[in-house]
Amino acid sequence: MLKTRFVKLLLFGFISVLLFPSCKHDPLIPPNPVVPVNPIDSSDFSGWPCGPDTIYFQNQVLPLLISKCTQSGCHDVASHKEGVVLVDYQRVMSTGKVKAFNPGNSKLYKVIVDTDPGDRMPEPPYSPLTADEIKLIRTWIEQGAQNTACNENYGSCDTQNVTYSNGIAPLLSSRCTGCHSSTNPQGNLKLTTYDEVKASAQGGALYGAVAQLPGYSAMPKGGTALSPCFVSKIKAWVDAGMPQ
Ligand code: HEC
Repeated sequence: MLKTRFVKLLLFGFISVLLFPSCKHDPLIPPNPVVPVNPIDSSDFSGWPCGPDTIYFQNQVLPLLISKCTQSGCHDVASHKEGVVLVDYQRVMSTGKVKAFNPGNSKLYKVIVDTDPGDRMPEPPYSPLTADEIKLIRTWIEQGAQNTACNENYGSCDTQNVTYSNGIAPLLSSRCTGCHSSTNPQGNLKLTTYDEVKASAQGGALYGAVAQLPGYSAMPKGGTALSPCFVSKIKAWVDAGMPQ
């Protein structure tokens, strides 16, 4: 008797595991570009954690391209200079003529390493990509040029002690400064020094723009919104008085 009850219990447990899977993955890319602001210090288990050796298209490659190549007059949808549009995976692959595993045959890669300033991208007066940025694109192509994404803050969102140098500057330099530096201050805004970022934060525009609040231009312009955790970090930094 006891034994059958035990077997029934086991069976019930097994079936409920089948019926109610506890591990639900969110879609890779959120369909809605408007970021809900998470409560500060929430844990974030959406998506997948980032592996140390993989280059992630959505997290690293696309933000770089958006920031360095899609300003007006260049490779945004409206300008589509020479037919090249670098705003999403499909168009990067097709109009950038990316050949998976083969950077040397990929137009996107060839133009960023071209030593002739007349052919190089980004073209003068913009500065060439840095060695690290070039390596990032090369490695992504060598790894198969997949549409990969991960969650940089998987499992936790630490908004304690965010400073300009440990949290804000690295984030802005990967997502924003292509369009907000002295060579290319779009919207007449530079975000490359502590004072510049502080000034923008004090007026409320920095947080308003990344949280995509009404009344502000949604940033990064034309790109994927920052993750809720990054938005929370910016808010925490502003609320803490913008520590350097
Ligand atoms: C592709 C270019 C581009 C990128 C990338 C970009 N911006 Fe902008 N930004 C602009 C332009 C252009 C404007 C001027 C307003 C407009 O045209 O929408 C602007 C305006 C702003 C403003 C003023 C908004 C307002 O409504 O007052 C802020 C703040 C800002 N950007 C912050 C950022 C931050 C932070 C990032 C990175 C997360 C970023 N931007 C990424 C192009 C860009």
